[in-house]
Amino acid sequence: MREQVAVLDFGSQYARLIARRIRECGVYCEIVRHDISAGEVAAMKPAALVLSGGPASVMNSDSPGMDPAIFDAGVPVLGICYGMQLMAKLLGGRVERGADGEYGPAKITFIEPVPLFHGIDAGMEVWMSHGDQVTVLPEGFASLAATPSCPTAVMGNKHRCLYGVQFHPEVVHTPRGNDILSNFLYRLAGCRGGWTMGRFLEESVAKIRDTVGDSEVVCALSGGVDSAVVAALLHRAIGERCRSFFVDNGLLRKGEVEEVRTLFARDYSLSMTVVEARGEFLAALRGVVDPERKRKIIGETFISVFKRQKDAMGAARFLAQGTLYPDVIESRSPLGGPSAVIKSHHNVGGLPEDLGFELLEPLRELFKDEVRRLGTELGLPDRLVHRQPFPGPGLAVRVIGEVTAENLKVLRDADAILRDEMGRYENVHEVWQYFAVLLPVKSVGVMGDERTYDDVVALRAVSSLDGMTADWARLPADLLARVSSRIINEVTGVNRVVYDISSKPPSTIEWE
Ligand code: XMP
Repeated sequence: MREQVAVLDFGSQYARLIARRIRECGVYCEIVRHDISAGEVAAMKPAALVLSGGPASVMNSDSPGMDPAIFDAGVPVLGICYGMQLMAKLLGGRVERGADGEYGPAKITFIEPVPLFHGIDAGMEVWMSHGDQVTVLPEGFASLAATPSCPTAVMGNKHRCLYGVQFHPEVVHTPRGNDILSNFLYRLAGCRGGWTMGRFLEESVAKIRDTVGDSEVVCALSGGVDSAVVAALLHRAIGERCRSFFVDNGLLRKGEVEEVRTLFARDYSLSMTVVEARGEFLAALRGVVDPERKRKIIGETFISVFKRQKDAMGAARFLAQGTLYPDVIESRSPLGGPSAVIKSHHNVGGLPEDLGFELLEPLRELFKDEVRRLGTELGLPDRLVHRQPFPGPGLAVRVIGEVTAENLKVLRDADAILRDEMGRYENVHEVWQYFAVLLPVKSVGVMGDERTYDDVVALRAVSSLDGMTADWARLPADLLARVSSRIINEVTGVNRVVYDISSKPPSTIEWE
């Protein structure tokens, strides 16, 4: 059985980060609901449990709790912030509101040199974010570290292997936080480690072979990282019995179809069918200007193409999807009642459930950066593994207004120039996403001695961590000048280029 650690989620924005940090330490980690029962924990056989932080106060009667019997199960537990306070309260200690609270950086001083602090000198910088604090320790616990305003910044019961830290070891502002987590896992909880992408790959291949048997699998490639990694993984596991297809909807970037074909069919010898449906998508989008209508039409057209393709592909039993761990977590509520179960979710453009496939979701345990690492492990090239995000509706949401073959050509050519120049920009890795947008306005210009009345292209480049918030990228002026000059000179029909300097919020990354 795979060694695993479970994080009980008390609604912390950092629960995922804790899970990722533990995985980075080489131990597989999952997030579970805070109200998991001691019986369910016993069935999971975790090597250790971590109680996350959370926005509530354990002093409120309606704050999220946990089954106290879990502490008697003999499983090592590390409580973080709210998790530490809950542990203290449930085991008979006391939690009270501190005089000022501690928010931001603080320095803790160790009281005892316990294994949790192995390799770290007498104290360390930590990140605090709490109003409440433990004022009376539960029986059997000792205070192991303190700050000037928090006498119990770390507590522990050595015999029961129960520990609590008031600070957040998972955030980067606690520079030695990973050492604390690693010490807990390896020096206190007795973890063996060894969870690596190579190991995940081996396990996944075996699992896919076992599940699929002699059947066939269909995989719809989108040109993005997730579906590419799914296809490569299936190819590794079952070879030609995974049949991939890629819909050319006419809304892709310049050279994209060829790029994907070359990558998969030639460089990776993965059988892939390109389904030509450009006319169908363009016809369906004729006269449509509303962005949401565009998205809906594109989704529906994809389903009808998919259904046709399915019939043409014969009797595949499985459909492989690139569902990731965040999709799985987001589809359940960490603080919902006990009846809130994992909901079904869709990843591939909202495919309906009645297509008659069994779903195969080999990436559902992975975070995005882990998917990229798996892609590298599978031998996929960097240019695919580190591809920037591209929206499902493609260039249709970057041609503002009606989407026509002519508009798409202008946008594609302008976008290709931006991509070409960005490819030579030394700090390109700091930019999350960059693209061109074709605006539905004409502006006056002068070329040679002639007055022009042509299209306007907007350039968008943003920095972001997760696409949820973003800031416009401070690209060098000479880079912008080169892109602008090349677009105006090389793309017929464009006489003006503007740069978008809006952040998200209040704007969004895409214009539609
Ligand atoms: P926004 O424009 O909402 O974009 O700030 C955030 C991220 O999501 C991408 N995006 C989409 N991806 N289907 C997708 O698959 C869509 O309809 C869609 N709209 C936006 C966008 O490119 C950015 O990375």
